[in-house]
Amino acid sequence: MGNPHYDKLIGCVSQLRERIGDFRPHIALTLGSGLGPVAESMDVTVSVPYGEIEGMPVSTVPGHKGRFLFGHIAGVPVVCMQGRLHYYEGLDVQDVVMPARIMGLLGAKTLFLTNAAGGLDPKMETPSLMVISDHIMLSFPNPLVGPNLDELGVRFPDMSAVYDPEIRAILRKKGAEMGLPMSEGIYCQLTGPSFETPAEVRLLGMLGGGAVGMSTACEAVAARHMGMKVCGISCITNKGAGLSAHALTHKEVMEAGELIGPRFSALVTAVLPEIDAL
Ligand code: HPA
Repeated sequence: MGNPHYDKLIGCVSQLRERIGDFRPHIALTLGSGLGPVAESMDVTVSVPYGEIEGMPVSTVPGHKGRFLFGHIAGVPVVCMQGRLHYYEGLDVQDVVMPARIMGLLGAKTLFLTNAAGGLDPKMETPSLMVISDHIMLSFPNPLVGPNLDELGVRFPDMSAVYDPEIRAILRKKGAEMGLPMSEGIYCQLTGPSFETPAEVRLLGMLGGGAVGMSTACEAVAARHMGMKVCGISCITNKGAGLSAHALTHKEVMEAGELIGPRFSALVTAVLPEIDAL
């Protein structure tokens, strides 16, 4: 008997196949809050709103477009997820990671994750970029809980190097060449949707975290499970709660994302051919 979740995945993949023909993305890109403009540097061939795919959960976050874009960035065949799905929307964690799995099943070898995040180090500039070196997903449900999808990967996958060291080196080098404000650190995923308390921000900082957000790590786990390479960049849109004098708002996050969006987009465009050549 088939696994219903795997059947749903395959159903979405075949509907997308009908729309894109034999197009094979090399790299899958997930665009976080405010980082949608990266898609402007893309030569889009086909755009498919999630709502047009039967079986696909739909995003409800304001500012999220919720669609797959297929095409090229800097000559590299890519699929972009413009608008991701979040656990705090009330979705099952397996549904949250569905798009990452779909993009992998469509042929993408690498998953490039981006997000907006709060900085856990009081000295971090905002906005700035943080190359993700590792993650902490302590209080978040693991997307691999439940019957293992043997078609995708093993029951107990290794997570000792989730974020590809070669790609991290490319990201650091290009960021430095372009003079971008950039650091490297550990991303902590919490469920949201409330922002953290100052005590939680201090705790995550003590655990060695560099940034905190509400996405990414679960997608990275699902992608590694199926053998994709993974890399990620956090856009540090604000200092974590309690590290600045003012309260946090979604508007501040979006505005900071928009401020760094063009430079971030330039970085992505610059690194994709190098990542593709690995
Ligand atoms: N916390 C959690 N998620 C976020 C933050 C934050 O401070 N900023 C942007 N996304």
